[in-house]
Amino acid sequence: MLGHLLHMAGIDSVIIENRAKDYVIERVRAGVLEQGTVDLMIESGVGDRLQREGLFHDGVSINVYGQRRRIDLAALTGRRITVYGQNEVVKDLVAARMATGRPLHFEVADVAVVDLESNQPKIRFTHNDEPQEIRCDFIAGCDGFHGICRPSIPEDCIRIYERVYPFGWLGILANAAPSSPELVYSRHPNGFALFSMRSNAVTRLYLQCAPDEDLSQWPDDRIWEELLTRLGSDDGWKPNVGPITQKGVTGMRSFVAEPMRYGRMFLAGDAAHIVPPTGAKGLNLAMADIWRLSRGLAEYYQSGSEALLDRYSADCLQRVWRAQQFSWWMTSLLHRSDTGNLFDCRRQRAELEYVTNSPSAMTSLAENYVGFPIAHEFAGEASLQMMLRS
Ligand code: PHB
Repeated sequence: MLGHLLHMAGIDSVIIENRAKDYVIERVRAGVLEQGTVDLMIESGVGDRLQREGLFHDGVSINVYGQRRRIDLAALTGRRITVYGQNEVVKDLVAARMATGRPLHFEVADVAVVDLESNQPKIRFTHNDEPQEIRCDFIAGCDGFHGICRPSIPEDCIRIYERVYPFGWLGILANAAPSSPELVYSRHPNGFALFSMRSNAVTRLYLQCAPDEDLSQWPDDRIWEELLTRLGSDDGWKPNVGPITQKGVTGMRSFVAEPMRYGRMFLAGDAAHIVPPTGAKGLNLAMADIWRLSRGLAEYYQSGSEALLDRYSADCLQRVWRAQQFSWWMTSLLHRSDTGNLFDCRRQRAELEYVTNSPSAMTSLAENYVGFPIAHEFAGEASLQMMLRS
């Protein structure tokens, strides 16, 4: 997305990726887009398929110990969410990039970033067995939590805030038509479960499990039995069952690295911050970072001013910490804790009752869930058009 926005502002970039193209456009990941993300895609010209194939949701449900209760996001906030796979977003962006003919290299290896404090940082890597070096004005570290950019920053120049959760999610993708048009988050005595989807024929489901859960202990029958137990509600609703096509376990953590910049290198997305998936914020935070970075770079090349670039980290972190708090809160609201503390269990139940009954509490959840506008300056089309014209 950064490459795309820079291209539209007339700024050259080289994108390198260590995976293969098929891997990045096929690997199923997140799936909930905030309105701000959708607007950014549409207004920058990469939202056609999203508008045709995205599933627009006006609400979500929380299943509280067998009772499904709906939160009407649209009525409470005037905004809605869109279900469209992250890998579909990537597919559309790869296609847009290829259409420009600008460089995008897959399957690079041995990537290193150097001279970050200088005015001409460098990226070294191997491509088609040939060593390569790019000399540039800026580096954007968009290489994820396990990438090399963040660890290239001297330890005393970056501060880490972190919380690791004592559970993970076992996620599956199934060829089954979604039995509800909206997501269902469920708190059951056995733990958390989530019903989501990718299309009118594909259901995406998750179960709370151990962070190091052994998938070989989970044959398909056991997964379905547990999903039906945890998601089924007393109004008779349950997910449709179908062949499982993908399975995986992911651990959960909250993580922030500050500042999101070192010299001429800017960190964006998971390279700088991780949220547990319960609030569906990861991809949307990355999009908001990228929007700010593209504006900062556009201003720099237009006027020579580094003002926006100098504010990049602080501006991003405001949104990041709001999303961190919300994601932590959704996670603690919905997961089973194995500490066995009965007080905590009853307190959580009281909170679930409050959040699914009080209009004020529902509004608070809803405004965080649908997401805040990407930036005060990004009121939509007008400011994007201004940047693109510049
Ligand atoms: C998903 O569809 O993959 C999904 C939906 C909501 C979440 C997390 C993941 O909170």
